[in-house]
Amino acid sequence: MIVHKKLANGFEYIEIKNSAAEAKIALQGAHIFHYKRADEEQILWLSEVSDFEYGKAIRGGVPICWPWFGFNENKNLPQHGFARVSMWEFIKSDESDEKSSSLIFRLTHGSQTLKMWRYKFELELHVTISDKLTMELKTTNLDCESFVLTQALHTYFKVSHISHALIKGLDKKPYLDALTWKNEIQEGDITFNQEVDRVYQEVTDEIILRDENREIHIKNSGSSSTVVWNPWIEKTLRMSAMNENAYEHMLCIESANAFDDRKVLKPQSSYTIKAVIF
Ligand code: BG6
Repeated sequence: MIVHKKLANGFEYIEIKNSAAEAKIALQGAHIFHYKRADEEQILWLSEVSDFEYGKAIRGGVPICWPWFGFNENKNLPQHGFARVSMWEFIKSDESDEKSSSLIFRLTHGSQTLKMWRYKFELELHVTISDKLTMELKTTNLDCESFVLTQALHTYFKVSHISHALIKGLDKKPYLDALTWKNEIQEGDITFNQEVDRVYQEVTDEIILRDENREIHIKNSGSSSTVVWNPWIEKTLRMSAMNENAYEHMLCIESANAFDDRKVLKPQSSYTIKAVIF
């Protein structure tokens, strides 16, 4: 079942329920902010104090960072691009299978986007809600010039406690430490006892997030960079829409095209990044 909903302030989202799973997706940002399998715990983390207001990105779920990841050279432009705070169009859905619902959302250039980024484009998010969460983000260059794209499906995962969280699958991978801007090599699994903000490169294998009582798998395609992030104590205090202990219950594993993994799209060409979470 797919139901359009609206908060008292007019903020619109879509609620999806089938026999295998449920989800909620805001039209602003095509932002998935709730996903769980039937009879299981939430997979995505959502801040208890997140804003659901036009113009502000939801803190949690899966923000879409596009058409740039991180800061733009022009510091007046928003970090992580404009897609997460733009209104997308809900194009269509398919509920023919009782265990799976598919939805398509679209964002295209307009006067607002052209002020921030001069290219004409079409961006589509294809989401499938089943016992897996599947996200495919397809960029098409509708301009007569090539453009450079960096992007991320910036997934916030819920963990029972950060001290129990362990990430497998990145051993021996090179990474850029965004806290020191040094290039490093990962040794072993990733655990958390301080702020972590890293862009792993050459990522090809499945990533596993191990928590106290469960494992979540992330399979990416079209992306060879993975961002791993937990803001820890001090950064959490500086951030918007975060309770002071929020860092204890979340971490991000972001399926990205960032830094050296940026993509150049020629006119009329398309590029798709895909993440499957199960
Ligand atoms: C991550 C970055 O991708 O996003 C972090 O690596 C950043 O440095 C985080 O703090 C959250 O960004 P924002 O813009 O949603 O507060």
